[in-house]
Amino acid sequence: MSLLKKLPEILEKSKREYDEMTAGTFVPWEICPGEGEDKNWLARGDNLDFMKYLMESAGLKGLFQMIYIDPPFFSQADYGAQIRIGEGEEQFRVRGRAYSDTWERGMAEYLHMLCLRLYGIRDLLKEEGTVWVHLDWHCVHYVKILMDEIFGEDRFINEVIWTYKSGGTSKRHFARKHDTLLFYGKGKNYYFQPMKEKSYNRGLKPYRFKGVEEYRDETGWYTLVNQKDVWQLDMVGRTSGERTGYATQKPEALLFRILEACTRPGDLCGDFFCGSGTLAAAAGKLERNWICCDQGNLAVSHTISRLIPQGEGFTLFQQDEMYEVDTCSYSDGASSIMLDAEITAIDDKQSFLNLKLTGFQPESLLDHHAGKKDRERIGQLRGLDSLNMVESWSVDFHFDGKLHRGRVVQQIRGAKGSITAGKVIGNHGRVSIRLRDSFGRDYQRILEIEGGRLCLESKK
Ligand SMILES: C[S@@+](CC[C@H](N)C(=O)[O-])C[C@H]1O[C@@H](n2cnc3c(N)ncnc32)[C@H](O)[C@@H]1O
Repeated sequence: MSLLKKLPEILEKSKREYDEMTAGTFVPWEICPGEGEDKNWLARGDNLDFMKYLMESAGLKGLFQMIYIDPPFFSQADYGAQIRIGEGEEQFRVRGRAYSDTWERGMAEYLHMLCLRLYGIRDLLKEEGTVWVHLDWHCVHYVKILMDEIFGEDRFINEVIWTYKSGGTSKRHFARKHDTLLFYGKGKNYYFQPMKEKSYNRGLKPYRFKGVEEYRDETGWYTLVNQKDVWQLDMVGRTSGERTGYATQKPEALLFRILEACTRPGDLCGDFFCGSGTLAAAAGKLERNWICCDQGNLAVSHTISRLIPQGEGFTLFQQDEMYEVDTCSYSDGASSIMLDAEITAIDDKQSFLNLKLTGFQPESLLDHHAGKKDRERIGQLRGLDSLNMVESWSVDFHFDGKLHRGRVVQQIRGAKGSITAGKVIGNHGRVSIRLRDSFGRDYQRILEIEGGRLCLESKK
């Protein structure tokens, strides 16, 4: 049966499943302190479960001003992310597997996946909210038909073409150098702030028409006109400061345009296929709040490592079931994080705790990520200093037993030897230490303080 004929069935089946679905279970997992830490959320897990959670458990139905998604494109390929192990001259880069965009059962399976999520997006948006779906030639024609059905033909606003320069071409067709962004409103009265762009005069000379303001730059004379729907913006280049090493990272400039046109400071925006966190990074810079999600460990760890240096505060949520399935992602055993802990009494109420991270024991030698040669090199580096495998660690000196607040966060990729954190603490309480390895897996160790002394370790 042709795909066109299958579309009504895909829509109906997706709607039925969507209506019957219950909320996924997500738990706050860690607070990365900073401005907006309780409003900005990053979730690790499946985005459909998360959307249902936002609506049914977090009370966020109908509260999003703008949702941007950049899902897999139906390219039938796998994508990687660069992982940096160690630092300085010894730094070594491995290509890790980030996500898969392969669909054994073809386009119908892909469209079903996306259709379910489009229903979720529609329900999360405010009446004046808008949605942007970032795709390319592989499937945009079918997705536009689905969006016409889900949002309404009359809610279509624009098809924005993002054109760029990049390597790679073919002798069999014109070089494919653009992506397509489908832009729809939830209601008729959607919020939109028109933007201006330069339009150079013919011959780059002044026209001097009455009432028309003209400007000049190094190229020549121009007027300001309303922004058109074809945007020429550079991709994130190899030497760009924005580059995270995540394969399909999009430029912040693209998100700035979308955010400025469709949101105001303080508005809530979402990205449920967030990859390396481009929407969150751009939204934070423009003082918008954000909620993002990705199911990949590497995506989430790239996002965290990008947002912390930017001073962005946020809460990390974790889908419960992931840690039951992927046992190497979480360890509460005392052996994985090696510490020297020294506690000095100050008086009968307070002590000073000094922690030194001396090493750690990753759960496995990253076998599913790296090739044989890479594994050997990783093994060597890990042998030299296991801290080469640490992306970051953080300490919550006042751990409440549930939610780790990384009050002291250190990005220590490849730092050598002495990594310390110290603080005055009470004589009774718990201290939680979290560590994220180069592959985005989390480890935790909890210290118990009783009467100003370190007691036996507790298991979380
Ligand atoms: C094209 S990438 C996004 C790149 C991102 N815009 C950026 O600038 O880095 C698509 C992302 O969707 C994620 N993804 C795919 N299916 C998902 C699902 N069901 N739930 C959550 N994330 C998903 C993948 O892990 C991948 O990181």
